[in-house]
Amino acid sequence: MQKKLNLTEFNSDTLALVRQIIKRYPEGRQKSALLPVLHIAQAENNGWLSAETMDYVASLLDLQPIEVYEVASFYSMFNLQAVGNCVIEVCQTGPCWLNGAEELLAHFEKRLGIKPGETTPDGRFTLKTVECLAACGNAPVIQVGTEYHENLTPQKADVLLDKWQEENKISHTNPYLL
Ligand code: FES
Repeated sequence: MQKKLNLTEFNSDTLALVRQIIKRYPEGRQKSALLPVLHIAQAENNGWLSAETMDYVASLLDLQPIEVYEVASFYSMFNLQAVGNCVIEVCQTGPCWLNGAEELLAHFEKRLGIKPGETTPDGRFTLKTVECLAACGNAPVIQVGTEYHENLTPQKADVLLDKWQEENKISHTNPYLL
């Protein structure tokens, strides 16, 4: 079952971290902190950004909600609907495609019984396709949270999936608390 949190307030530690990040930028330029703050908000909201969570981010940064929606909907690393514990992002751009990404994606679909954009019924895995992950030299590549897995084959993917199943992997972690 997908967890549908709806974070509308950071705890005091996270709020202190966010205020530190905002202070990196000149007065009146707090919008520059939007990407890091969205990453934190997404991590703390089980890997996705609800409208209410984005509204909260807008209020923290003194922005209009639409300014936050525009950014969050542009980048594939932000999820605008609930996701599973472990989000698997398969690169589909040219170099990965030429090196087996299509076969790899088909393998993930078969193993997990879902298509890109879907989540397994137990809420453990979400599958996504994304554009270049900037590791083309080691194509094909997938991203899972802060991890890259490169030169991947269906056989190597099976080993990873077994491990993630066993440990009930959670891919969304606050990148500033690693
Ligand atoms: Fe896949 Fe660049 S094309 S990492």
